[in-house]
Amino acid sequence: MKQHDYYFWKKFFSLKEIKDLNKIAKLHPVLNFKDSPASAEAKNGLKNLNNVTAVRWEHVKKNLKDLNDKVVITNQERYKFSIDDNLDTDNVLFNVYKKGSFYEWHKDGSNNPYYDYKFTVLINSSEKKYKGGSFQIFTTGGEYTAPEFNSVGDVIMFKSDIVHRVLPVEEGTRNSISFFVAGNKFV
Ligand SMILES: [Fe+2]
Repeated sequence: MKQHDYYFWKKFFSLKEIKDLNKIAKLHPVLNFKDSPASAEAKNGLKNLNNVTAVRWEHVKKNLKDLNDKVVITNQERYKFSIDDNLDTDNVLFNVYKKGSFYEWHKDGSNNPYYDYKFTVLINSSEKKYKGGSFQIFTTGGEYTAPEFNSVGDVIMFKSDIVHRVLPVEEGTRNSISFFVAGNKFV
C-alpha cells in the first residue's frame, strides 16, 4: 500500500520467519564487517546504533524472495527505475537499536561511482516489544511518522534518496533488517 512517499506491507513476515532471519544473522555474520559510516558519523551525532551485523544476500535470499519479488513488482508498476538483481555478495544489514539509540535525518547513498541505491527496504525484526524508535520520513509537509512500521514483520520500502530518520528508542530493543536495491546512476 502506498502512503506518502513509501510503500508498506504490514506483518509481511510472521514472528517465526523473523526469528529464522535473526538466527541466520547469528550463524553467518560477515566477518570484519565495519559499518564504516557509523563510526565516522557518530562523531557528529548522526547516529548512535549499538550494533550492525552484515549477512550476505546468498544466506537470506530464500527467506527474502517473496519480499524481493514485491519490491521488483512495485518498481515495475510504480517507478520504472532501472534496477539490478541483488548479488550473492551484497550485504543485508541487521541493525540493533537499544534504549537511547537513534539515527538522525539522512539519505541512504552509495559511494560507488557506477551505481546508486534506488530503494531502501526495511523490515521490523524486533522479537520483543519496545517503545520509541519511530521511523520518520521528510515529506513536503515536514516530518511524518510511518505508523505502519511499529510491529514485528512490518516492511517499508522507499526511494533511498528520501530523507528519513529513526527517533530514539525509549524502552527495550528495536531491531531492523535493511537492504538496498541498486541500479545505474541517477542522472
Ligand atoms: Fe537509512
